[in-house]
Amino acid sequence: PLSSDINLSDNAFWALPPEERHAAFRRLQALDSPPFFEAGESPFGVPERGYYALVRHADVAEASRNPALFSSAAGATSIFDLPAEFNEYFGSMINMDDPRHARLRRIVSRAFTPKMIKKFEEDVQRTAGVIVDELLKTGPCDFVQHVSARLPLKIICEMMGIGDEHYEMVLRNTNIILSGADPEFISEDINEALTQILTSGGDLAALVTGLAEQRQANPIDDVISSLATANIDGEQLTPAELASFFVLLVVAGNETTRNAISHALLLLTEHPDQRELLLADLDGRIGPAVEEIVRYVSPVIWMRRTLTADTVSNGHAYQANDKVLLMYQAANRDESVFGPTAGQFDITRSPNPHVGFGAAGPHFCLGAHLARREITAILRELLTRVPDIRPAEEPDRLLSSFINGIKHMPCEFG
Ligand code: HEM
Repeated sequence: PLSSDINLSDNAFWALPPEERHAAFRRLQALDSPPFFEAGESPFGVPERGYYALVRHADVAEASRNPALFSSAAGATSIFDLPAEFNEYFGSMINMDDPRHARLRRIVSRAFTPKMIKKFEEDVQRTAGVIVDELLKTGPCDFVQHVSARLPLKIICEMMGIGDEHYEMVLRNTNIILSGADPEFISEDINEALTQILTSGGDLAALVTGLAEQRQANPIDDVISSLATANIDGEQLTPAELASFFVLLVVAGNETTRNAISHALLLLTEHPDQRELLLADLDGRIGPAVEEIVRYVSPVIWMRRTLTADTVSNGHAYQANDKVLLMYQAANRDESVFGPTAGQFDITRSPNPHVGFGAAGPHFCLGAHLARREITAILRELLTRVPDIRPAEEPDRLLSSFINGIKHMPCEFG
Protein backbone atom coordinates (compact mmCIF):
# COMPACT_ATOMS: atom_id res chain seq x y z
CA PRO A 1 0.00 0.00 0.00
CA LEU A 2 0.85 3.62 -0.48
CA SER A 3 2.10 4.21 3.06
CA SER A 4 3.44 0.90 4.34
CA ASP A 5 7.04 2.14 4.54
CA ILE A 6 6.11 5.23 6.59
CA ASN A 7 6.10 4.86 10.37
CA LEU A 8 5.40 7.98 12.42
CA SER A 9 6.20 6.05 15.62
CA ASP A 10 9.79 5.49 14.51
CA ASN A 11 12.29 8.18 15.58
CA ALA A 12 14.05 7.62 12.25
CA PHE A 13 11.05 9.27 10.55
CA TRP A 14 11.54 12.43 12.63
CA ALA A 15 15.25 12.49 11.82
CA LEU A 16 14.51 12.70 8.07
CA PRO A 17 15.34 15.96 6.30
CA PRO A 18 12.19 18.18 6.35
CA GLU A 19 11.47 17.81 2.63
CA GLU A 20 11.48 14.00 2.83
CA ARG A 21 9.14 14.14 5.78
CA HIS A 22 6.75 16.39 3.86
CA ALA A 23 6.88 14.08 0.85
CA ALA A 24 5.76 11.28 3.19
CA PHE A 25 2.94 13.46 4.57
CA ARG A 26 1.73 14.09 1.01
CA ARG A 27 1.55 10.35 0.40
CA LEU A 28 -0.43 9.91 3.60
CA GLN A 29 -2.79 12.73 2.58
CA ALA A 30 -3.56 10.87 -0.65
CA LEU A 31 -4.97 7.87 1.28
CA ASP A 32 -8.74 7.38 1.45
CA SER A 33 -8.84 7.60 5.25
CA PRO A 34 -6.52 8.67 8.09
CA PRO A 35 -3.58 6.22 8.37
CA PHE A 36 -3.24 4.13 11.52
CA PHE A 37 0.07 3.57 13.34
CA GLU A 38 1.02 1.24 16.16
CA ALA A 39 2.15 3.25 19.18
CA GLY A 40 5.21 1.16 19.92
CA GLU A 41 6.05 -0.31 23.30
CA SER A 42 4.66 1.54 26.29
CA PRO A 43 7.17 2.46 28.96
CA PHE A 44 4.42 1.96 31.54
CA GLY A 45 3.94 -1.76 30.97
CA VAL A 46 0.33 -1.49 29.83
CA PRO A 47 -0.77 -2.53 26.34
CA GLU A 48 -1.08 0.63 24.24
CA ARG A 49 -3.49 1.32 21.44
CA GLY A 50 -2.13 2.83 18.27
CA TYR A 51 -3.39 6.09 16.77
CA TYR A 52 -4.79 7.60 13.62
CA ALA A 53 -2.74 10.45 12.17
CA LEU A 54 -4.97 13.28 10.94
CA VAL A 55 -2.79 14.66 8.17
CA ARG A 56 -5.46 16.60 6.29
CA HIS A 57 -6.42 20.15 7.17
CA ALA A 58 -10.16 19.33 7.14
CA ASP A 59 -9.71 16.43 9.58
CA VAL A 60 -7.62 18.52 12.00
CA ALA A 61 -10.23 21.31 11.88
CA GLU A 62 -13.11 18.89 12.44
CA ALA A 63 -11.48 17.23 15.47
CA SER A 64 -10.57 20.62 16.99
CA ARG A 65 -14.07 21.96 16.76
CA ASN A 66 -15.67 18.84 18.29
CA PRO A 67 -14.13 18.54 21.76
CA ALA A 68 -17.13 16.54 23.04
CA LEU A 69 -16.15 13.71 20.68
CA PHE A 70 -12.40 14.43 20.41
CA SER A 71 -11.43 14.77 24.06
CA SER A 72 -8.20 16.09 25.59
CA ALA A 73 -8.78 14.48 28.98
CA ALA A 74 -6.69 11.36 28.37
CA GLY A 75 -3.72 13.58 27.44
CA ALA A 76 -3.00 15.98 24.57
CA THR A 77 0.79 15.96 24.48
CA SER A 78 1.69 12.28 24.87
CA ILE A 79 0.78 9.29 22.71
CA PHE A 80 0.91 7.07 25.78
CA ASP A 81 -1.60 7.48 28.59
CA LEU A 82 0.44 8.87 31.46
CA PRO A 83 0.31 7.36 34.97
CA ALA A 84 -1.31 9.42 37.73
CA GLU A 85 2.02 10.61 39.18
CA PHE A 86 2.45 12.85 36.13
CA ASN A 87 -0.64 14.84 37.16
CA GLU A 88 1.41 16.33 39.96
CA TYR A 89 3.23 18.58 37.44
CA PHE A 90 1.59 17.94 34.09
CA GLY A 91 -2.13 17.78 34.93
CA SER A 92 -2.85 21.14 33.33
CA MET A 93 -5.80 22.47 31.35
CA ILE A 94 -4.25 21.36 28.05
CA ASN A 95 -5.17 17.84 29.22
CA MET A 96 -8.75 18.73 30.22
CA ASP A 97 -12.13 19.25 28.62
CA ASP A 98 -14.69 21.95 29.33
CA PRO A 99 -16.17 23.04 31.67
CA ARG A 100 -13.08 22.58 33.92
CA HIS A 101 -10.74 23.58 31.10
CA ALA A 102 -12.66 26.82 30.47
CA ARG A 103 -12.71 27.73 34.17
CA LEU A 104 -8.97 27.29 34.46
CA ARG A 105 -8.19 29.05 31.19
CA ARG A 106 -10.20 32.07 32.35
CA ILE A 107 -7.81 32.60 35.29
CA VAL A 108 -4.97 33.60 32.97
CA SER A 109 -6.65 34.45 29.65
CA ARG A 110 -6.82 38.17 30.44
CA ALA A 111 -3.02 38.37 30.53
CA PHE A 112 -2.85 37.01 26.96
CA THR A 113 -5.57 39.05 25.22
CA PRO A 114 -4.50 41.18 22.23
CA LYS A 115 -5.19 44.28 24.36
CA MET A 116 -2.88 43.19 27.17
CA ILE A 117 -0.21 41.96 24.79
CA LYS A 118 -0.40 45.30 22.95
CA LYS A 119 0.45 47.01 26.23
CA PHE A 120 3.41 44.69 26.47
CA GLU A 121 4.53 45.36 22.93
CA GLU A 122 6.96 48.14 23.77
CA ASP A 123 8.60 45.99 26.40
CA VAL A 124 8.94 43.10 23.93
CA GLN A 125 10.47 45.44 21.33
CA ARG A 126 12.87 46.95 23.88
CA THR A 127 13.95 43.50 25.08
CA ALA A 128 14.52 42.42 21.46
CA GLY A 129 16.63 45.56 21.04
CA VAL A 130 18.78 44.72 24.05
CA ILE A 131 19.28 41.15 22.78
CA VAL A 132 20.53 42.52 19.45
CA ASP A 133 22.80 45.05 21.28
CA GLU A 134 24.37 42.06 23.05
CA LEU A 135 24.61 40.07 19.82
CA LEU A 136 26.52 42.92 18.15
CA LYS A 137 28.95 42.95 21.08
CA THR A 138 29.34 39.16 21.10
CA GLY A 139 29.83 38.72 17.36
CA PRO A 140 29.29 35.40 15.56
CA CYS A 141 27.80 32.93 18.04
CA ASP A 142 25.14 30.26 18.55
CA PHE A 143 21.99 32.04 17.39
CA VAL A 144 19.73 29.79 19.47
CA GLN A 145 21.52 30.43 22.74
CA HIS A 146 22.16 34.14 22.23
CA VAL A 147 19.09 35.28 20.32
CA SER A 148 16.10 33.00 19.81
CA ALA A 149 16.03 31.47 23.31
CA ARG A 150 16.50 34.81 25.08
CA LEU A 151 13.38 36.73 24.09
CA PRO A 152 10.66 34.16 24.88
CA LEU A 153 12.44 33.21 28.11
CA LYS A 154 12.68 36.76 29.43
CA ILE A 155 9.14 37.70 28.44
CA ILE A 156 7.38 34.62 29.85
CA CYS A 157 9.41 34.89 33.09
CA GLU A 158 8.51 38.61 33.41
CA MET A 159 4.84 37.87 32.82
CA MET A 160 4.90 35.11 35.41
CA GLY A 161 6.84 37.27 37.88
CA ILE A 162 10.04 35.17 38.02
CA GLY A 163 13.31 36.96 38.83
CA ASP A 164 16.20 36.76 36.37
CA GLU A 165 18.26 34.65 38.78
CA HIS A 166 15.93 31.77 37.87
CA TYR A 167 15.97 32.15 34.06
CA GLU A 168 18.62 29.53 33.33
CA MET A 169 17.03 26.98 35.63
CA VAL A 170 13.64 27.53 33.96
CA LEU A 171 15.14 27.12 30.48
CA ARG A 172 17.10 24.01 31.44
CA ASN A 173 13.99 22.32 32.81
CA THR A 174 11.60 23.28 30.01
CA ASN A 175 14.23 21.99 27.56
CA ILE A 176 14.27 18.62 29.31
CA ILE A 177 10.48 18.39 29.45
CA LEU A 178 10.09 18.95 25.69
CA SER A 179 13.29 17.27 24.54
CA GLY A 180 11.48 14.45 22.72
CA ALA A 181 13.99 11.66 22.13
CA ASP A 182 17.06 13.89 21.88
CA PRO A 183 20.07 12.41 23.71
CA GLU A 184 21.58 15.89 24.24
CA PHE A 185 18.89 16.60 26.84
CA ILE A 186 17.48 13.29 27.94
CA SER A 187 18.44 9.68 28.56
CA GLU A 188 17.91 7.13 25.81
CA ASP A 189 16.65 4.77 28.49
CA ILE A 190 12.93 5.49 28.57
CA ASN A 191 12.52 4.88 32.29
CA GLU A 192 15.42 7.16 33.12
CA ALA A 193 14.01 9.75 30.72
CA LEU A 194 10.65 9.69 32.50
CA THR A 195 12.40 10.19 35.83
CA GLN A 196 14.27 13.17 34.37
CA ILE A 197 11.00 14.70 33.13
CA LEU A 198 9.36 14.23 36.53
CA THR A 199 12.42 15.74 38.26
CA SER A 200 12.26 18.79 35.98
CA GLY A 201 8.55 19.15 36.69
CA GLY A 202 9.33 18.92 40.40
CA ASP A 203 12.04 21.58 40.22
CA LEU A 204 9.70 24.00 38.43
CA ALA A 205 6.93 23.16 40.90
CA ALA A 206 9.23 23.98 43.83
CA LEU A 207 10.01 27.36 42.26
CA VAL A 208 6.37 28.31 41.78
CA THR A 209 5.28 27.02 45.19
CA GLY A 210 7.71 29.36 46.92
CA LEU A 211 6.66 32.34 44.79
CA ALA A 212 2.94 31.58 45.15
CA GLU A 213 3.21 31.68 48.94
CA GLN A 214 4.69 35.17 48.71
CA ARG A 215 2.02 36.32 46.23
CA GLN A 216 -0.82 34.97 48.33
CA ALA A 217 0.29 37.33 51.08
CA ASN A 218 1.15 40.21 48.73
CA PRO A 219 -0.45 39.85 45.28
CA ILE A 220 1.06 41.95 42.49
CA ASP A 221 0.25 42.34 38.81
CA ASP A 222 1.71 39.07 37.53
CA VAL A 223 0.43 35.69 36.41
CA ILE A 224 1.65 33.85 39.52
CA SER A 225 -0.50 36.21 41.64
CA SER A 226 -3.50 35.38 39.41
CA LEU A 227 -2.86 31.66 39.92
CA ALA A 228 -2.14 31.97 43.66
CA THR A 229 -5.31 33.98 44.36
CA ALA A 230 -7.61 32.28 41.82
CA ASN A 231 -11.06 31.40 43.08
CA ILE A 232 -13.10 28.86 41.14
CA ASP A 233 -16.55 28.35 42.63
CA GLY A 234 -15.18 29.22 46.03
CA GLU A 235 -12.11 27.01 45.74
CA GLN A 236 -8.42 27.74 45.26
CA LEU A 237 -6.22 25.77 42.90
CA THR A 238 -4.70 22.70 44.55
CA PRO A 239 -0.88 22.68 44.77
CA ALA A 240 -0.77 20.18 41.87
CA GLU A 241 -3.09 22.35 39.73
CA LEU A 242 -1.02 25.44 40.43
CA ALA A 243 2.27 23.67 39.66
CA SER A 244 0.86 22.11 36.47
CA PHE A 245 -0.48 25.47 35.26
CA PHE A 246 2.89 27.07 35.80
CA VAL A 247 4.75 24.24 34.07
CA LEU A 248 2.36 24.48 31.09
CA LEU A 249 2.90 28.23 30.70
CA VAL A 250 6.69 28.25 30.98
CA VAL A 251 7.09 25.19 28.74
CA ALA A 252 4.66 26.52 26.09
CA GLY A 253 6.15 30.00 26.36
CA ASN A 254 9.73 28.84 25.89
CA GLU A 255 9.80 25.80 23.69
CA THR A 256 7.77 27.03 20.74
CA THR A 257 8.54 30.65 19.83
CA ARG A 258 12.28 30.00 20.16
CA ASN A 259 12.08 27.48 17.32
CA ALA A 260 9.94 29.76 15.17
CA ILE A 261 12.63 32.47 15.50
CA SER A 262 15.53 30.12 14.70
CA HIS A 263 13.70 28.69 11.69
CA ALA A 264 12.83 32.23 10.55
CA LEU A 265 16.51 33.12 10.18
CA LEU A 266 17.15 29.84 8.37
CA LEU A 267 14.20 30.32 5.99
CA LEU A 268 15.02 33.93 5.17
CA THR A 269 18.59 32.84 4.36
CA GLU A 270 17.50 29.89 2.23
CA HIS A 271 15.04 32.17 0.37
CA PRO A 272 16.92 35.42 -0.40
CA ASP A 273 14.09 36.60 -2.66
CA GLN A 274 11.68 36.44 0.29
CA ARG A 275 14.17 38.27 2.50
CA GLU A 276 14.48 41.04 -0.07
CA LEU A 277 10.73 41.28 -0.40
CA LEU A 278 10.39 41.59 3.35
CA LEU A 279 13.13 44.21 3.64
CA ALA A 280 11.55 46.25 0.83
CA ASP A 281 8.39 46.79 2.93
CA LEU A 282 9.06 45.60 6.46
CA ASP A 283 6.04 47.28 8.05
CA GLY A 284 3.64 46.06 5.40
CA ARG A 285 4.93 42.50 5.08
CA ILE A 286 6.10 41.48 8.55
CA GLY A 287 2.60 40.38 9.69
CA PRO A 288 1.93 37.97 6.79
CA ALA A 289 5.60 36.86 6.93
CA VAL A 290 5.25 35.78 10.57
CA GLU A 291 2.09 33.79 9.73
CA GLU A 292 3.94 32.10 6.88
CA ILE A 293 6.85 31.24 9.16
CA VAL A 294 4.48 29.61 11.65
CA ARG A 295 2.71 27.71 8.84
CA TYR A 296 5.86 26.56 7.10
CA VAL A 297 7.69 25.54 10.28
CA SER A 298 4.82 24.32 12.48
CA PRO A 299 6.87 24.49 15.69
CA VAL A 300 4.28 22.27 17.43
CA ILE A 301 3.92 19.21 15.21
CA TRP A 302 0.81 17.59 16.73
CA MET A 303 -1.63 17.41 19.61
CA ARG A 304 -3.55 14.29 20.61
CA ARG A 305 -7.26 13.74 21.13
CA THR A 306 -9.15 10.60 22.24
CA LEU A 307 -12.58 9.58 20.95
CA THR A 308 -15.35 9.60 23.55
CA ALA A 309 -17.85 7.56 21.47
CA ASP A 310 -18.20 5.56 18.26
CA THR A 311 -18.69 8.10 15.52
CA VAL A 312 -18.22 8.90 11.86
CA SER A 313 -16.23 12.07 11.20
CA ASN A 314 -15.43 13.35 7.70
CA GLY A 315 -16.45 9.96 6.37
CA HIS A 316 -14.22 7.90 8.65
CA ALA A 317 -15.59 5.57 11.35
CA TYR A 318 -13.91 5.84 14.76
CA GLN A 319 -14.53 3.81 17.88
CA ALA A 320 -14.67 5.09 21.45
CA ASN A 321 -11.13 5.33 22.95
CA ASP A 322 -9.44 5.58 19.55
CA LYS A 323 -6.53 7.99 19.65
CA VAL A 324 -5.89 10.58 16.96
CA LEU A 325 -2.91 12.89 16.42
CA LEU A 326 -3.80 16.25 14.87
CA MET A 327 -0.79 16.58 12.58
CA TYR A 328 -0.58 20.37 12.27
CA GLN A 329 2.68 20.14 10.38
CA ALA A 330 1.12 18.00 7.65
CA ALA A 331 -2.16 19.96 7.56
CA ASN A 332 -0.18 23.17 7.05
CA ARG A 333 1.05 21.85 3.69
CA ASP A 334 -2.29 20.44 2.53
CA GLU A 335 -2.57 21.29 -1.18
CA SER A 336 -6.37 21.16 -1.05
CA VAL A 337 -6.19 24.27 1.17
CA PHE A 338 -2.92 26.00 0.24
CA GLY A 339 -2.95 25.03 -3.45
CA PRO A 340 -0.08 23.79 -5.57
CA THR A 341 2.31 26.23 -3.82
CA ALA A 342 1.66 24.64 -0.39
CA GLY A 343 5.29 23.49 -0.26
CA GLN A 344 6.69 26.95 -1.01
CA PHE A 345 7.73 29.55 1.53
CA ASP A 346 5.82 32.63 0.42
CA ILE A 347 5.67 35.58 2.82
CA THR A 348 2.91 37.21 0.76
CA ARG A 349 0.57 34.20 1.05
CA SER A 350 -3.01 35.36 1.48
CA PRO A 351 -5.25 34.01 2.78
CA ASN A 352 -3.19 31.83 5.10
CA PRO A 353 -5.57 29.67 7.17
CA HIS A 354 -2.74 27.72 8.82
CA VAL A 355 -3.21 25.63 11.95
CA GLY A 356 0.22 26.30 13.44
CA PHE A 357 -1.42 27.60 16.62
CA GLY A 358 -4.08 24.88 16.43
CA ALA A 359 -7.41 25.02 14.61
CA ALA A 360 -10.45 26.87 15.94
CA GLY A 361 -11.61 25.26 19.18
CA PRO A 362 -11.37 25.66 22.94
CA HIS A 363 -7.65 24.81 23.14
CA PHE A 364 -6.49 27.24 20.43
CA CYS A 365 -3.04 28.52 21.48
CA LEU A 366 -3.37 30.90 24.40
CA GLY A 367 -0.02 32.49 23.55
CA ALA A 368 -0.60 33.11 19.83
CA HIS A 369 -0.71 36.93 20.13
CA LEU A 370 2.35 36.93 22.34
CA ALA A 371 4.27 34.61 20.01
CA ARG A 372 3.43 36.82 17.00
CA ARG A 373 4.66 39.92 18.85
CA GLU A 374 7.91 38.22 19.86
CA ILE A 375 8.73 36.87 16.40
CA THR A 376 7.87 40.26 14.85
CA ALA A 377 9.98 42.23 17.35
CA ILE A 378 13.14 40.16 16.99
CA LEU A 379 12.93 39.99 13.19
CA ARG A 380 12.43 43.74 13.04
CA GLU A 381 15.57 44.33 15.13
CA LEU A 382 17.65 41.79 13.23
CA LEU A 383 16.61 42.82 9.74
CA THR A 384 17.16 46.52 10.35
CA ARG A 385 20.32 46.35 12.45
CA VAL A 386 22.07 43.13 11.33
CA PRO A 387 20.61 42.67 7.83
CA ASP A 388 23.35 40.28 6.70
CA ILE A 389 23.02 37.85 9.63
CA ARG A 390 22.87 34.23 8.45
CA PRO A 391 23.48 30.69 9.73
CA ALA A 392 27.16 29.77 9.40
CA GLU A 393 26.46 26.05 9.02
CA GLU A 394 23.66 23.50 8.95
CA PRO A 395 21.50 23.78 12.07
CA ASP A 396 21.56 21.06 14.69
CA ARG A 397 17.95 19.83 14.84
CA LEU A 398 16.10 18.43 17.85
CA LEU A 399 15.14 14.75 17.59
CA SER A 400 11.45 14.91 18.44
CA SER A 401 8.13 13.97 16.87
CA PHE A 402 6.38 16.74 18.81
CA ILE A 403 8.47 19.90 18.50
CA ASN A 404 10.14 21.10 15.30
CA GLY A 405 13.19 22.33 17.12
CA ILE A 406 16.64 23.72 16.37
CA LYS A 407 19.11 23.10 19.21
CA HIS A 408 22.10 25.03 17.90
CA MET A 409 22.75 27.19 14.90
CA PRO A 410 26.06 29.05 14.63
CA CYS A 411 25.48 32.40 12.95
CA GLU A 412 27.76 34.96 11.29
CA PHE A 413 27.43 38.57 10.13
CA GLY A 414 29.45 41.64 9.29
C1 HEM B 1 -1.73 25.53 22.93
C2 HEM B 1 1.26 26.27 19.19
C3 HEM B 1 3.45 29.88 21.58
C4 HEM B 1 0.73 28.91 25.44
C5 HEM B 1 -1.12 25.44 21.70
C6 HEM B 1 -1.50 24.52 20.66
C7 HEM B 1 -0.64 24.72 19.62
C8 HEM B 1 0.26 25.78 19.99
C9 HEM B 1 -0.62 23.97 18.30
C10 HEM B 1 -2.63 23.49 20.73
C11 HEM B 1 -3.89 24.05 20.15
C12 HEM B 1 -5.05 23.08 20.19
O1 HEM B 1 -4.97 22.01 20.83
O2 HEM B 1 -6.08 23.41 19.59
C13 HEM B 1 2.12 27.31 19.52
C14 HEM B 1 3.13 27.85 18.63
C15 HEM B 1 3.74 28.86 19.30
C16 HEM B 1 3.11 28.96 20.61
C17 HEM B 1 3.43 27.33 17.24
C18 HEM B 1 4.86 29.78 18.87
C19 HEM B 1 5.16 30.06 17.62
C20 HEM B 1 2.91 29.94 22.83
C21 HEM B 1 3.29 30.88 23.84
C22 HEM B 1 2.55 30.61 24.93
C23 HEM B 1 1.66 29.49 24.60
C24 HEM B 1 4.34 31.98 23.70
C25 HEM B 1 2.64 31.37 26.22
C26 HEM B 1 2.46 30.89 27.39
C27 HEM B 1 -0.14 27.90 25.09
C28 HEM B 1 -1.08 27.28 26.01
C29 HEM B 1 -1.79 26.31 25.29
C30 HEM B 1 -1.27 26.35 23.94
C31 HEM B 1 -1.25 27.64 27.48
C32 HEM B 1 -2.91 25.40 25.81
C33 HEM B 1 -4.23 26.10 25.64
C34 HEM B 1 -5.41 25.30 26.13
O3 HEM B 1 -5.31 24.07 26.33
O4 HEM B 1 -6.47 25.90 26.31
N1 HEM B 1 -0.06 26.22 21.25
N2 HEM B 1 2.14 27.99 20.69
N3 HEM B 1 1.91 29.13 23.31
N4 HEM B 1 -0.29 27.33 23.85
FE1 HEM B 1 0.83 27.75 22.24
